[in-house]
Amino acid sequence: MPDSLSNDLDVLEVVESRDFRSYHAFLRSCRNFMDGPLIQQMGENYEKAVGDGQAPATFEEAYPVVDDLLEFQLYSWSFRNFQRFKYHRPDFGIFDTVNLGRSNIIAELDAAADAAGDDLRLNDDLQLPDYYTAADFHQHTGGVYSDPLDGVSYEFGRRTTNPAHMDPNLIYRLSYGQFPDRAYDKVLDWGTAHGAGLIEWQKLHPESECHGVDLSAPCLKLANKRAREHGYRFKLSQQDLEHLDYEDDTFDLAFHLFMFHEIPPVNLKNALAEVYRVLKPGGIFAGPEFGQGGESPMLEAVQMSHAWTNNETYAAAWFNFDMEKAARDVGFRSVTIEPFKPFHSDSSKRGGGVSIWRFYVLEK
Ligand SMILES: C[S@@+](CC[C@H](N)C(=O)[O-])C[C@H]1O[C@@H](n2cnc3c(N)ncnc32)[C@H](O)[C@@H]1O
Repeated sequence: MPDSLSNDLDVLEVVESRDFRSYHAFLRSCRNFMDGPLIQQMGENYEKAVGDGQAPATFEEAYPVVDDLLEFQLYSWSFRNFQRFKYHRPDFGIFDTVNLGRSNIIAELDAAADAAGDDLRLNDDLQLPDYYTAADFHQHTGGVYSDPLDGVSYEFGRRTTNPAHMDPNLIYRLSYGQFPDRAYDKVLDWGTAHGAGLIEWQKLHPESECHGVDLSAPCLKLANKRAREHGYRFKLSQQDLEHLDYEDDTFDLAFHLFMFHEIPPVNLKNALAEVYRVLKPGGIFAGPEFGQGGESPMLEAVQMSHAWTNNETYAAAWFNFDMEKAARDVGFRSVTIEPFKPFHSDSSKRGGGVSIWRFYVLEK
């Protein structure tokens, strides 16, 4: 381990009260109930409501049927408000809890940033895109970029965002298992946020040189801190995916984790052209996303409703985005869009093995 990393192994921790832990465990149980039995029951009543008539073929057709179901109304209220409680509840909410350690957390993030030198490139003059500042995504007030503690709050929020598994990093490992089996030398995490996905990658691929890009300085500072706690050295930079400053043909792999639904179609097309430019010939752009596939209009309608229950503002536009065409238009020579296998094969799971998750592998 390089000497410069040896002081960074102390883990930045937010002090959690017992009440805080119980409260967030309760919220996670609620999410498990909503995503499990409640959706199951919704599905049964959806089938009854459709009856012998023509089954809705699209999420737009399914939505009015779903919207009438009591289970959906309960789901929607819960989805919106539990997320608000999670961030905002006085005392036990994430913002209040993180804020108790404000000065210490900022000092630790700043110290790690200073130690990182050129490994962490922040750009105070970066013009954040309008679409990004226009909405408080996931109901994270002020967005994930406006307060120095936003990265830490966002990282906390993952506990109840990934309800089905206690380990929020499992989804990254499942995704990496779907990448073409190759050696990847230079790797870019396309929208790295708190860096957890990049850390999981580096654990599995110690040989990779890891880069991460994001608009949010607070998130990147946390990603830098977390990387250094692991003894890793990432190259992180604050950039817009639409205008990257890397040379052409730089990366063997760029991965996207839950990014497509966050970006409006026009910007997504520009960002696709940019990632194509910075990949080496034969390089791979891959990752999971939800909301396309047409296998379950009901589940898609429920997922799309997060656009308004959880400020996933551009999700509905993403549902109609033609990724195959957009990817070929910017030059990708191979485009594979398949069901996300880890969620698709088990008929005992929610939806009887139907999944609205897709896995995208684009090759330059
Ligand atoms: C849903 S999060 C995904 C985070 C991460 N990939 C993960 O799996 O947890 C979206 C991230 O994309 C970043 N982002 C959104 N638009 C961006 C853009 N145009 N350029 C760079 N980052 C962007 C946000 O700041 C946020 O950290």
